Amino acid sequence: MSEIAIYPGSFDPITKGHIDILERFSRVFTKIYIGVGFSPKKSYLFNLEERQTMVREAVTHLQNIEVVAFEGLTVEFAKGVNANFILRGVRSAGDFEYEQNMANMNYRLNKEIETLLLYSKPELNLVSSSLIKEVFALGGDVSQFVTENVIRELVKKIKV
Ligand code: COA
Repeated sequence: MSEIAIYPGSFDPITKGHIDILERFSRVFTKIYIGVGFSPKKSYLFNLEERQTMVREAVTHLQNIEVVAFEGLTVEFAKGVNANFILRGVRSAGDFEYEQNMANMNYRLNKEIETLLLYSKPELNLVSSSLIKEVFALGGDVSQFVTENVIRELVKKIKV
């Protein structure tokens, strides 16, 4: 059976936590569209194009992935690429509640689209994009949490 899914997020920047979730889901789905989105609640270090490029460069080892930017509702993005699944990763109990709210709302908006969650690997469950930016800005080594191309972009944006 051919199954299509989306993996939406801000990716400001993409981390090895996101990549781990993608690698594991990519064994299950025929095609995954990574949706680089925008949340009005957030302020971003990287613009949409920069975030998209970093994601694209970080997932070149995965064959069945396509990176696209999207605006508006996640369920509409899913419908637009014929996806019936929204993929998300869960790192902690805090994430669980947030993901439950989003999954419930998305279900109300479109009952054809299911949200699937995967638990993060324990060694990656403390990673978040904000924490990476904070640690990097304070001179910490983030190489175990983000790929080389992301470190190059962090260097350009943040003077350490
Ligand atoms: N590994 C590491 N970090 C992870 C992670 C993982 N597996 N999964 C999530 N995160 C982190 C991210 O790094 C990010 O950290 P930050 O807050 O420090 O930046 C945080 O979890 C959440 O980010 P993300 O998963 O990118 O989601 P988001 O809250 O920024 O949401 C959208 C972005 C685009 C998915 C969301 O705003 C959206 O759905 N927008 C569309 C509008 C819509 O449909 N709204 C109704 C939905 S109910």
